[in-house]
Amino acid sequence: MAFLITEEQIQRRVAELAEEISRDYEGKEVILVGVLKGAFVFLADLMRKLKIPSRVDFLAVSSYGKFTESTGQVKILKDLDYPIENEDVLIVEDILDTGLTLSYIYSLLKERNPRSLKTVVLLDKPEKRVVDFKADYVGFVVPPVFLVGYGLDAGERFRYLPYIKELEENG
Ligand code: IMP
Ligand code: MG
Repeated sequence: MAFLITEEQIQRRVAELAEEISRDYEGKEVILVGVLKGAFVFLADLMRKLKIPSRVDFLAVSSYGKFTESTGQVKILKDLDYPIENEDVLIVEDILDTGLTLSYIYSLLKERNPRSLKTVVLLDKPEKRVVDFKADYVGFVVPPVFLVGYGLDAGERFRYLPYIKELEENG
């Protein structure tokens, strides 16, 4: 049977993550850094469920092909609009797969001396990891299958689905 995470399951889990993050950041204002494009749906739901104030900024990075996967070369296509020095920064990503994208972004932002730097991912595929990277907050641990929906795409399609499903070869 194809893997599926329903809209209800996603909304319930996002609310739980928001609770946990709100507790950890109590009394602070957090800068949510969304990684375009996949994270925008998750970020929009998460920020509205947080009980603390937040600001939002976005980053876009190039995806690597099969060949570059081993080198971990990731390029910045769009940088943040604002500096993050002395800010409490939470990177928001749709999925942690090989870990190359997040470990690159993490080191890049760390160099800018934020007061704190953490990561939240909606989905984690630990079996696909190439570099050692652990997110501070994880929505769902998922099997190593290709997933679409809730921001995740296949050739830019399916981002609009309110649920997440395994992309099946015969539709
Ligand atoms: P990583 O650098 O391999 O961890 O890559 C993470 C990025 O790969 C995500 O931000 C997604 O854009 C993409 N990705 C990884 N797995 C999937 C998937 O199952 N569906 C859609 N995109 C994926
Ligand atoms: Mg992405």
